Amino acid sequence: MTHSIKFWAVVPAAGVGKRMNADRPKQYLDLAGQTVIEHTLLRLLHANIFAAVAVAISEEDPYWSELTVASHEKIIRAKGGKERADSVLSGLHTIRDQAADDDWVLVHDAARPCITSEDIHHLINSLVNDDVGGILALPSADTLKNVLGNNIVGTLDRSHIWRALTPQMFRYGSLKSALELAVGNPAITDEASALELQGLQPKIVEGRPDNIKITRPEDLALAHFFMEQQQ
Ligand code: CTP
Ligand code: MG
Repeated sequence: MTHSIKFWAVVPAAGVGKRMNADRPKQYLDLAGQTVIEHTLLRLLHANIFAAVAVAISEEDPYWSELTVASHEKIIRAKGGKERADSVLSGLHTIRDQAADDDWVLVHDAARPCITSEDIHHLINSLVNDDVGGILALPSADTLKNVLGNNIVGTLDRSHIWRALTPQMFRYGSLKSALELAVGNPAITDEASALELQGLQPKIVEGRPDNIKITRPEDLALAHFFMEQQQ
């Protein structure tokens, strides 16, 4: 029996934002009058493609329930996990009764509030007929060095190096089983790496450079600038 393929979003938002060094997790910092996570979620909802958006929130989080978006009909709260991969897996588990194995899931960092509908649809249109799926990525602009201590021991061939962004888009069933098999493996820092561990070769789709991840304090001003440019 066939069914119509659905699209789901999973948003890991249970990090503490250590590198941001702020008084609260970075997803709750103000960016142009709204929190970072509100921008992110409203942009995902605005893409108008997702059956639901599962958001992984830490159990100790006092901020989430204060947000209007928390009660949006398409938003589902999931339990945050120890590592990013645990949070993503928890998000997948909350939709297990609704999602089919061949539905698509787009995993997107809460900390990337500048995501555009254009990039979301570009990723989907590029991969919807693919067997495996893939990720938004950007070619590396800098020359990259292999370093031991302070010493450069090699230069990487930049033409083969891409920076992995999100969303990362995979089939529900294969993403869930790849992450379940990868639990506790520190090398799994994104969804693609879990699929790679299964011997699969996810595709890259070139994304927009303004889809930055807020990581350090100076990134907030940069995100603000990009949002102004996008208007
Ligand atoms: N994340 C998560 N659960 C974790 C760790 C991270 O859901 N246990 C989420 C973060 O909230 C963020 C995304 O994964 O939206 C990307 O992670 P990162 O940028 O590393 O955020 P933090 O882990 O919060 O930041 P830091 O590494 O500086 O502590
Ligand atoms: Mg982190």
